[in-house]
Amino acid sequence: MKTIFVTGGAGFIGSAFVRLVLDEISNVKIVNFDALTYAGNPDNLQGLDETRHRFVKGDICDKDAVLQALPEDCEAIFNFAAESHVDRSINSASEFVLTNVLGTQILLDSARAKNVRRFVQISTDEVMGTLPENETAFFTETSPLKPNSPYAASKAAAEHLVRAAHETFGVDTIITRCGNNYGQRQFPEKLIPLIIANAMNDESLPVYGDGKNVRDWIFVEDHCRAIWLAYERGKSGESYNIGARNERQNIEVVKSILDALDKPHSLIKFVTDRPGHDRRYAIDAAKVETELGWQPQTTWEEGLQKTIDWYLENQDWIKRIRNGAYRDYYKKQYG
Ligand code: NAD
Ligand code: TYD
Repeated sequence: MKTIFVTGGAGFIGSAFVRLVLDEISNVKIVNFDALTYAGNPDNLQGLDETRHRFVKGDICDKDAVLQALPEDCEAIFNFAAESHVDRSINSASEFVLTNVLGTQILLDSARAKNVRRFVQISTDEVMGTLPENETAFFTETSPLKPNSPYAASKAAAEHLVRAAHETFGVDTIITRCGNNYGQRQFPEKLIPLIIANAMNDESLPVYGDGKNVRDWIFVEDHCRAIWLAYERGKSGESYNIGARNERQNIEVVKSILDALDKPHSLIKFVTDRPGHDRRYAIDAAKVETELGWQPQTTWEEGLQKTIDWYLENQDWIKRIRNGAYRDYYKKQYG
């Protein structure tokens, strides 16, 4: 049995990764280390095989706690833990610097102290900034880092620290940069679950600006499979861009959700644009496809339907969130 250390495993992508590894990889045990911030949800961990999964509540900025929880003979750290929402980073950036930058450095130091074999940093395409609207430009692994939001800047800073740990101390590192994820258990501050939740309740659907910003959407399980392959087959010190070649304008995404739920387009409400709103993200996934032999397994149509079905079948999950501090956030963000 190998043991891996997953941070942020009670969040959206981290919990999908934990599930995928427990379901599909037989010889791995997981220590799941998560601070349970507003985005971390113990409900996301229900039904896991507890003989191979151990949850530890802790903050990646707390070095003692990390060192205590890190198992001896740890195969790899997968760092999902982050403050992850652009709008929140615009309202207040310092939590992003703490968790995303300082927290990553503390994990790198801890990996060195405990001789962890490999360090996998879960990054984002947003570190590369924005692309023009024409169809020919894509993010590649050699695109310059030009982050535009405080969130993206903190994730870019983390990437630099990972690179420095590799170059200076020989830490075995992998960086993965993925586009926008969607799927089950995503916190309803992000576009797709927010639109599903509001539409289910016949509430208006806030679309920023002209709604023509483009995101490159990937089903969360496809992202998690690519992370596992990057860990298994990736070359130390390298970055891997992950994307399903699925560019969509926001307005198209919103209309598809309304149509699937049989709700009227009149629920759409164009609202003031996000400051510094990146116009287009699009990933050239050639490297993960050729070097890692990865391909997405879920089409956009299947993935979106699965996601909508999950939210329809798990209305208690979303109700519990919408009853809490989320209400104050929503009021502040959308008036
Ligand atoms: P999320 O906000 O749903 O989950 C983040 C998790 O990290 C939560 O469980 C939270 O409790 C935990 N966490 C936050 N601060 C912590 C701290 N200081 N110590 C320990 N745990 C802490 O985020 P997500 O959407 O699942 O994203 C996971 C990772 O993937 C992030 O690093 C994000 O930058 C990256 N990413 C996300 C997307 C996307 O579309 N959501 C795309 C590409 C990359
Ligand atoms: P989001 O899910 O916040 O992801 P990111 O900003 O990391 O790409 O937003 C996805 C897109 O949807 C982005 O272009 C902003 C837009 N958006 C809206 O139009 N309305 C909203 O209420 C939200 C949250 C996002």
